[in-house]
Amino acid sequence: MSRTLTIRRPDDWHLHLRDGAMLAAVLPETARHFARAIVMPNLVPPVVTGAQAAAYRDRILAALPEGMRFEPLMTLYLTEDTDPDDVAAAAGSGLVRAVKLYPAGATTNSASGVQDFNRVRPVLERMAGIGLPLCVHGEVTDPQVDIFDREAVFIDRVLDPMRRATPGLKVVMEHVTTSEAVDYVKGAQTGLAATITAHHLVINRNHILAGGIRPHYYCLPVAKRERHRRALVGAATGGDARFFLGTDSAPHTDARKQQACGCAGCFTATNTLSVLAEVFERESALDRLERFTSRNGPAFYGLPVNEETLTLTRGAPVTYPERIDSGDGPVTVFDPGFKLHWKVGA
Ligand code: NCD
Ligand code: ZN
Repeated sequence: MSRTLTIRRPDDWHLHLRDGAMLAAVLPETARHFARAIVMPNLVPPVVTGAQAAAYRDRILAALPEGMRFEPLMTLYLTEDTDPDDVAAAAGSGLVRAVKLYPAGATTNSASGVQDFNRVRPVLERMAGIGLPLCVHGEVTDPQVDIFDREAVFIDRVLDPMRRATPGLKVVMEHVTTSEAVDYVKGAQTGLAATITAHHLVINRNHILAGGIRPHYYCLPVAKRERHRRALVGAATGGDARFFLGTDSAPHTDARKQQACGCAGCFTATNTLSVLAEVFERESALDRLERFTSRNGPAFYGLPVNEETLTLTRGAPVTYPERIDSGDGPVTVFDPGFKLHWKVGA
């Protein structure tokens, strides 16, 4: 007898959709399962103004196949020149749901990010005033800091001082990868949440480096030790409302990942829900999957939960394509390294 699990339709609180041919290729992979997604603004050039976000939103909706429903929740890329009035107007109209902070140079397409945090104070204060969340890529870029320590150091050097200096600012610490980040979020009184990806619930740093270098497991923040992965699994499956799904599904062509200097990002949109169901089942936490995928995120963002539902069915192992064709070349789909028994659908 097959088992089913019906949950409110999930949302993805951190997603890279790209543009052009890549957008057209990856959008259906998300829209098939997710009702809404916080869409990252790290295009080249980045989405900085309300007008740019509106144009990007139109391109996303134009790329959506007939018969699919999907609501892109737009974000602005914070720069040292960002105009607080433009941010407030874009938020006031409902177009923009968050502002994204990339420390300059922290990750893919982050060259226009923030170097001098004092220069973005007026924007952060305005955001605190209107309740607009700041999504934070939480890694320092100091080359002296070991890449495996960059998230923990960011909390002490940047995030905590910034939150203290801007009372009332809602912050999402994105794609957390360490027990330090989990503890920091749990210790906060209010106004702080974190997204967790599916792949960081599955891989640790051995997956990237042991027995050969595996570029498709390389993403930023880089996966850490097993004890950190366990802390993430605990946070995701524990039911705490401050943790919710942000896949950080970040498509790059195989040609860009499989080279001497491969770029960062795991493409997970296609099979995220099957992976998550497997992870939650192993923790005997399937009854808490809906909170993580469908309830905690809207609650933090002040949005209604989705009325539609999605059913997962347990049965014989399901397979997904190993790669999808993007028009620019193939994009490898995340391989969790174990069988997936939950398929989306009745
Ligand atoms: C993301 C990308 O490719 O845009 N890459 C990644 O490794 N996660 C950028 C990001 O979210 O850091
Ligand atoms: Zn990302």
